[in-house]
Amino acid sequence: MNNISASEITPENTYLSRRQFMMRAGTMAIGAATSVACREIPEVMRGPEAGSTKPRPTISGTDELGDTWNDFEAITNYNNYYEFTTEKERVAALSQNFRTRPWKISVGGLVKNPRIYDIDDLIHGFEQEERVYRLRCVEGWSMVIPWLGFPLRKLLAEVEPTADANHVRFETLYDPQQLPGQRNKWYEWPYVEGLRLDEAMHDLTFIASGIYGKTLLPQNGAPIRLVIPWKYGFKGIKAIVRIDLVEQQPSTLWMAAAPKEYGYYANVNPTVHHPRWSQATERRIGELTRRPTMMFNGYEEEVTYLYKEMDLRRFF
Ligand code: MTE
Repeated sequence: MNNISASEITPENTYLSRRQFMMRAGTMAIGAATSVACREIPEVMRGPEAGSTKPRPTISGTDELGDTWNDFEAITNYNNYYEFTTEKERVAALSQNFRTRPWKISVGGLVKNPRIYDIDDLIHGFEQEERVYRLRCVEGWSMVIPWLGFPLRKLLAEVEPTADANHVRFETLYDPQQLPGQRNKWYEWPYVEGLRLDEAMHDLTFIASGIYGKTLLPQNGAPIRLVIPWKYGFKGIKAIVRIDLVEQQPSTLWMAAAPKEYGYYANVNPTVHHPRWSQATERRIGELTRRPTMMFNGYEEEVTYLYKEMDLRRFF
């Protein structure tokens, strides 16, 4: 990500052809989705569909701003996942044999009830909700994704953070056999991310185990990954095995790799530019022209209060 070439962030690099996009946009809509409140998961997307290999039903929708969901093919074939490769179009192929069962997740640190969850108990332990969120990558592209999962705050409530817990630290699986990118000495593996506790407790902060009503595929972070829609996509750590409540702000993989380029907060902000490119606009995958980037990725109303005492130029 920090070795991005200029060509990667230019509009010519359009992933879907215009024709494909138009066809997609013209498919049956199943009602407007909301990004903030959860909504009923349509019958066609529930139950046996999850994890099945049956063809996906033709479903489309929009977010609360009227933006069309990116289609399943785009979301699952254009990925950032440095444990596999730095080439977005190759992640899907290279990650297909990644083993997501058995899988345990430990949730501990400064909590009253530390737990080790089996992945299926965790996923089924909380009511599954659909959340349609915009994902804005720090590189300057974006998508609209219908996620399936549960808000992180429900999991944190179960383990009960103690009074001295201020941050939440997340860790990806470390297994260089399966994740060959972890042999790249340039980065400090495993991938680590963090959130301030109040950010982690915000209702928009989501643990995803699916998209389009189906079980998450390896390339998108199976079996579970984090989604924080008002922050740049790199905060959305994939294949989580460990969550710890901690007192001090943790360091992250990207802060260690390039501290001047990737901060801890990483809030989407069209006025704070990456040292090597502007953040004023973005390319929605499937569109030909760039569009303006919105403050907090369009979730300003919901999250501004979290940062009212902060200089967002200094805490980027
Ligand atoms: N998590 C891990 N473990 N490794 C990664 O390389 N890439 C991040 C984030 N989570 C990454 C990760 C980046 S830069 C982005 S933009 C999103 O995942 C991309 O998610 P997607 O591939 O599902 O669109």
